[in-house]
Amino acid sequence: MMELAGKHLVLGLSGGIACYKSAELVRLLTQAGASVQVVMTEAATQFITPTTMQALSGRAVYTDQWDAREGNNMAHINLSREADAILIAPCSADFIARLAQGRSDELLSLLCLARPTERVPLLLAPAMNREMWAHPATQRNLAQVAQDGATVLGVGCGAQACGEVGDGRMLEAAELLQALIAFFTPKHLAGQRVLITAGPTFEAIDPVRGITNLSSGKMGFAIARAAQEAGAEVTLVAGPVHLPTPPGVRRINVQSAQNMLAAVEEQARAATVFIATAAVADWRPAQAAAQKIKKDGSGSTPTLAFVENPDILAAVAQSPRARAGQLYCVGFAAESENLLQHASAKRQRKGVPLLVGNIGPATFGQDDNALLLIDAQGHRELPRASKRVLAQQLVVEIARRLTRTQTP
Ligand code: C5P
Repeated sequence: MMELAGKHLVLGLSGGIACYKSAELVRLLTQAGASVQVVMTEAATQFITPTTMQALSGRAVYTDQWDAREGNNMAHINLSREADAILIAPCSADFIARLAQGRSDELLSLLCLARPTERVPLLLAPAMNREMWAHPATQRNLAQVAQDGATVLGVGCGAQACGEVGDGRMLEAAELLQALIAFFTPKHLAGQRVLITAGPTFEAIDPVRGITNLSSGKMGFAIARAAQEAGAEVTLVAGPVHLPTPPGVRRINVQSAQNMLAAVEEQARAATVFIATAAVADWRPAQAAAQKIKKDGSGSTPTLAFVENPDILAAVAQSPRARAGQLYCVGFAAESENLLQHASAKRQRKGVPLLVGNIGPATFGQDDNALLLIDAQGHRELPRASKRVLAQQLVVEIARRLTRTQTP
């Protein structure tokens, strides 16, 4: 997916071993549709060559403010004016200090200073040794550049090239790509607190067995990511799934429907939007055995009795805040036929303003899906696409309905 199509980026490299990650970053940015102009400090050229960066970006690299290739000899002006954003990755402790002071005696800091701040955002991906990162001078400089309008991306934690372990590693190339995509996403959900359930539940039979289903959690996780990118504060209550938590999303892992209900009721107090994508088990064993149920060799089988699980969505949709219009509830329906009819009936039964129907066997575990949105006004189809694209579209659809319905 060309998520950065049409974007032109200046990628600035300052000196640091993390320059090796910037080679991969250029590839990812160009594969996502961006054009990338690389600018390197003299120190950066000690770590990776301009030749490598030129080959990967397809553009001659700038390293020098006196570069005579520019007709007006003003590379700092020309390069900064045409960019949709400037990303410094790696951004060294020294470069942060230079930005904080407004220094401009070499091309990269010069073009950062010369950029039109209201039109060309500056993003920084710090990279340094953990002691340098923790030093009050670095933290002071970071606070200063953030106050001056730069967006400071996080750092990773882990093994460092120097052999030490701690905070200060540059984010991985894939994480930086995600951060840029998020940065450019319109903030349709700014100010919203979105609570999402995702994945299956696991209902214990005994300490080693249980009942679950084939929900992968992919749709709910994709919605969590899209909502976060759209500016919402997102809490994701996830059943047992093997999916990475989208950046910036708060995740609460649960097992059973009862655990999920407890977590949701707690979190729903502050939420403004609730999206229930979880495939909650309808029933659970009436009694989970305290010890493993043993096969005794006689051929007799255990008898399981079931009780119905609470309906989390219906419970939240009936809560006073939801009824007062302060918590907008969105349900999902996985059907196998007659989607419109079944999903419309489910919308009424659950008492939610928006219900999203999909065909169960066509979505479980898949990377793509098709959705049918049903609200009081009627229905609308979001045709087959990746769950990523559908999640982005759904977020826009929800945001549009919030402006119509929400009472502050
Ligand atoms: O009734 P059904 O399971 O088809 O309803 C699906 C919708 O209700 C989904 O949004 C699902 O997350 C939610 N649900 C729930 N708690 C249940 C059952 C379903 O929140 N116990």
